[in-house]
Amino acid sequence: MTTVLAIDQGTSGTKAVVVDGDGRVRGLAERPVHPEYLPGGGVEQDPAELLGSVLGAGRAAVAQAGVPVDVVTLANQGETVLAWDPGDGRPLSSLVVWQDRRAQALCDGLDAHRDLFAERTGLVLDPYFSAPKLAWLRRNVTGDGVVTTSDSWLVHHLTGAFVTDASTASRSLVAGLDTGAWDPRLLELFGLGGEPLPRIVACDEIVGSTRAFGAAAAVGGLVVDQQAALAGEGCLRPGEAKCTFGTGAFLLANTGTAAARSAAGLSTSVAWRLRERTSYCLDGQVYTAASAVRWMENLGWIRGAADLDEVADPGGVGGVLAVPALAGLGAPRWRPDARALLSGMTLATTTGHLVAAVLQGIAAQVAELGAAAERDLGAPLTRLRVDGGLTRCRTLMQAVADLMQVPIEVYPSEHATALGAVALARVAADTGLSLADAVVGWAPGPVYEPAWPADRATEFRARWSAAAGTA
Ligand code: G3P
Repeated sequence: MTTVLAIDQGTSGTKAVVVDGDGRVRGLAERPVHPEYLPGGGVEQDPAELLGSVLGAGRAAVAQAGVPVDVVTLANQGETVLAWDPGDGRPLSSLVVWQDRRAQALCDGLDAHRDLFAERTGLVLDPYFSAPKLAWLRRNVTGDGVVTTSDSWLVHHLTGAFVTDASTASRSLVAGLDTGAWDPRLLELFGLGGEPLPRIVACDEIVGSTRAFGAAAAVGGLVVDQQAALAGEGCLRPGEAKCTFGTGAFLLANTGTAAARSAAGLSTSVAWRLRERTSYCLDGQVYTAASAVRWMENLGWIRGAADLDEVADPGGVGGVLAVPALAGLGAPRWRPDARALLSGMTLATTTGHLVAAVLQGIAAQVAELGAAAERDLGAPLTRLRVDGGLTRCRTLMQAVADLMQVPIEVYPSEHATALGAVALARVAADTGLSLADAVVGWAPGPVYEPAWPADRATEFRARWSAAAGTA
């Protein structure tokens, strides 16, 4: 039976999980990564720290497991990029993180082609995606080496291959959503025409092998972290949706084999390509979820995320309204220039009200994404599956249930992304296995039912939406 090392390489850290053939977690290790926030909307990571976190977490998890690993899989951040030397893998720039907004002017300059990008890629022309950042690196940092997403660099380090997977390529703005190939016209618009580009591989391709974590192991099952969580939470049928509460919050809804473009301001991406069939998803993102919590910590409102339920006023927000757009607004508004706002304070406002309002503001953003997904799907969501560290915050989860008016089902493990990547790795390793066979079934931990009446949710969402429009 296949033992898999899944590496979930995220914005704030790397988690490595070893899962044996019976689905048991045998080893687990985490290493932090410290993004640096720069003036002008820059967000960078140190490549040495990031690579060290992958190797360190992976080796520690394997040592703890004490069993040989057959397959190593990587779930990546999706849109984080760097320049590197393809000869020796040496980084030639910092990692420019998905939250980085410095390519905004570059996107503004391509505004006349907005519809072309949307039609060919399913994405909105926004600095969140990877190609604007690749072009920004080329114009501002270096003309040397190659510029790619972080997965290509890490996989090259592990195997020597020069690849990216179909889901990661679909987050670029330069890969055709229907063709699954790099698009020469879009590359040219970004000034990336002559660049050597990684080969786009399916999520069930074994791309090489590595001895980085001990004995030789195959490498495959590559995928974007959000898509991995979609698989891990078993959202395999059209209309099934999940939201991962990490550094940001990411709502994805499976649309099956239809690459329908969103009419509601979401983006459409590859969920995974397996057995030569591509599945797609709609997605929308809240740029600051745990980031907003860390911001409240920096301001001294809370001591840490574990404090949220204690500090948030159980009586509510005391009239305060928050739009926590601390790194702009993503789908469906696409306002990288938006700034956070807090309103409605009086001399009676307490820290508890402010914390409750910021949590409610995050929930309102998730609810807005859910409503957009419902419009695109043409059917209401009947429930939302959720995972990630912030699902431990009862105040936030209850607010999501109240505003979305659907039950919120909490995934019972903290490793949805890693476990989804494990499932893809199993499909890669065993050609007889389907994704549905490989995903482990689960029963929700807590389920949050809506406590607000529908008209209260509608009234609040209209008020919040009007405020967000002025952010
Ligand atoms: O799009 C970026 C996202 O996939 C990063 O996820 O877990 O690092 O916040 P995370």
